[in-house]
Amino acid sequence: MKCRVCREPAVIDIRRHNANFCVEHFLRLCRDQVAKAIEDFHMLEPGDRVLVAVSGGKDSLAVWDLLRELGYEADGLYVGLGIGGYSDRSGQRTKAFAEERGWPLQVIDLRDDHGYDVPTAAKVTKRVPCSACGLSKRHLFDRAALDGGYDAVVTGHNLDDEAAVLFGNTLRWEAEYLARQLPVLPARHGFPRKVKPLVRLGERETAAYCVLRGIDYVVEECPMAAGNKHLGYKEALNAIEAASPGSKHAFYFGFLDRAAPRFADAAPASGEGEVLGTCSVCGSPSTNDTCAFCRLVERTAGAQPVVLTAKGSS
Ligand code: AMP
Ligand code: FES
Ligand code: ZN
Ligand code: ZN
Repeated sequence: MKCRVCREPAVIDIRRHNANFCVEHFLRLCRDQVAKAIEDFHMLEPGDRVLVAVSGGKDSLAVWDLLRELGYEADGLYVGLGIGGYSDRSGQRTKAFAEERGWPLQVIDLRDDHGYDVPTAAKVTKRVPCSACGLSKRHLFDRAALDGGYDAVVTGHNLDDEAAVLFGNTLRWEAEYLARQLPVLPARHGFPRKVKPLVRLGERETAAYCVLRGIDYVVEECPMAAGNKHLGYKEALNAIEAASPGSKHAFYFGFLDRAAPRFADAAPASGEGEVLGTCSVCGSPSTNDTCAFCRLVERTAGAQPVVLTAKGSS
């Protein structure tokens, strides 16, 4: 197995590119793919200050590293979700990563700073944990970016994530979600710009990138997400990709190129559409008098904290 670029021994094969790469040229490929995504979708301008939402997993640590490599002023934001030992380990890994490099990292803890955690919010609201988790993260990312004067919020969503979400939305023809499933959402209604620079890289590549760059990431997945639909869609797409390499890329980028414009008129799915005013508690843009985040804080106030056992605690 030889590197496509230099013919030296290769360390990784990428079937959808029908090519193998040595360490140096694989790392260069990752940087080039991120630079191309940023340019093609006008995600960032040179000199932009960006806030990278980092979970301690491979994707978000890789994207932070890649953006710094590409010369962006990129700071980190970690949100402690209170999901037992999983959150403890994620926080430790993220803080160690930032400290080793001397890169600024802002840490927000749901329990310490807002009086609740994801397992407790899930119990109080009687909804799946990912619902309160997603709502909290979106709100806190937006708030931190606006308060810190950042030009954009960056997340580590990769090609596998985006293709899986697209698959789910297409299965149910969720027109409103399809209208918003873009690699960049411009700033509007008081929300910051949101960008996903890893859309041209798969999760096998972001994992390899971390290993080859010596980035120590949390391998375990969130215990509360086990068995959710998203993971099932990923498995289905992996089976298709194995039989026909390049299918995920064709599915996602074909959608962006040829189908997404047809959904552009669909009404916004949630939150960020018809924003008429601001939250009377926190001042964030909101359709209601109190935003969904502040309502969650209110509802969970004083609730008996849920203690996770087994996988979630250490
Ligand atoms: P997920 O929603 O877990 O698929 O994560 C998607 C992206 O959201 C990650 O790549 C990160 O950029 C960001 N993210 C997830 N969890 C956290 C967290 N606890 N703190 C900060 N950012 C996060
Ligand atoms: Fe949000 Fe698991 S990371 S519920
Ligand atoms: Zn090479
Ligand atoms: Zn609010």
